[in-house]
Amino acid sequence: MSLEAQNLTKTYASPAGPLQVLTEASFALGRGESAAVMGPSGSGKSSLLYILGGLEAPTSGTVRVAGQNPYELAPEGLAAFRNRQVGFVFQDHCLLPQCTVLENVLVPTLVGDPDSAAPERARALLDHVGLGSRLDHRPAALSGGEKQRVAIARALIRQPHVVLCDEPTGNLDADSAIRISELLLSLHQQQQTVLLVVTHSEPLAKRFARRWRIERGHLRTEGVGSNPPKPGAESRPADLQQGGRGL
Ligand SMILES: Nc1ncnc2c1ncn2[C@@H]1O[C@H](COP(=O)(O)OP(=O)(O)O)[C@@H](O)[C@H]1O
Ligand SMILES: [Mg+2]
Repeated sequence: MSLEAQNLTKTYASPAGPLQVLTEASFALGRGESAAVMGPSGSGKSSLLYILGGLEAPTSGTVRVAGQNPYELAPEGLAAFRNRQVGFVFQDHCLLPQCTVLENVLVPTLVGDPDSAAPERARALLDHVGLGSRLDHRPAALSGGEKQRVAIARALIRQPHVVLCDEPTGNLDADSAIRISELLLSLHQQQQTVLLVVTHSEPLAKRFARRWRIERGHLRTEGVGSNPPKPGAESRPADLQQGGRGL
């Protein structure tokens, strides 16, 4: 399995005493598999993503990405793990305003061994997300949806095993949100990453075969389908759902 969580528990210290936000969360996702995570604000969705992405150690339990527990690594190894194995997309694109679109996508490749193929990959990714003609623009000259496209290209530049998205369409209008959702899912299918998306959007969550909800710290399965529906195919006509028209 590419991404495994075993009995993840997270407790924060707070003035009112220990705050347990996750209790014994377990799941496994293989290459090319995806899930949506839902839950009310403050339920621990971001905490779960940070734990899975090597940003925040769990209080107990184990994370494995491609068999490796990142929290067993020395600090340099953990930094390399975050840089190489995980792509993050946040609600706020977090682009560097002084850098161009192309430079923003290349930022993760500036650490570690020189990656001479990175500029070519960045151009191809930006082409794929529809920004091939905007390489030299600064983020301020882009729409919200376009900025999020740059953030997606940046998350994929290191060809990570796992892509973690924290409310990626939360700041977008409905049309841009649909286009960003379709882009995330098509890139996920093409690159066979493990994709986990935290979202409040029911239409986005419905595009995932696996839907989980965090409730009072517990990760519960909400919907399990055999195949992820294709983007835009979540509402099938009634006659198809019933096996087609009668003879
Ligand atoms: N570093 C931290 N220290 C203390 N409490 C935290 C910390 N990070 C998050 N929390 C608390 O944990 C709970 C879950 O937060 P979070 O994972 O951000 O939830 P969500 O993403 O579902 O809104 C919230 O009550 C939040 O205030
Ligand atoms: Mg959050």
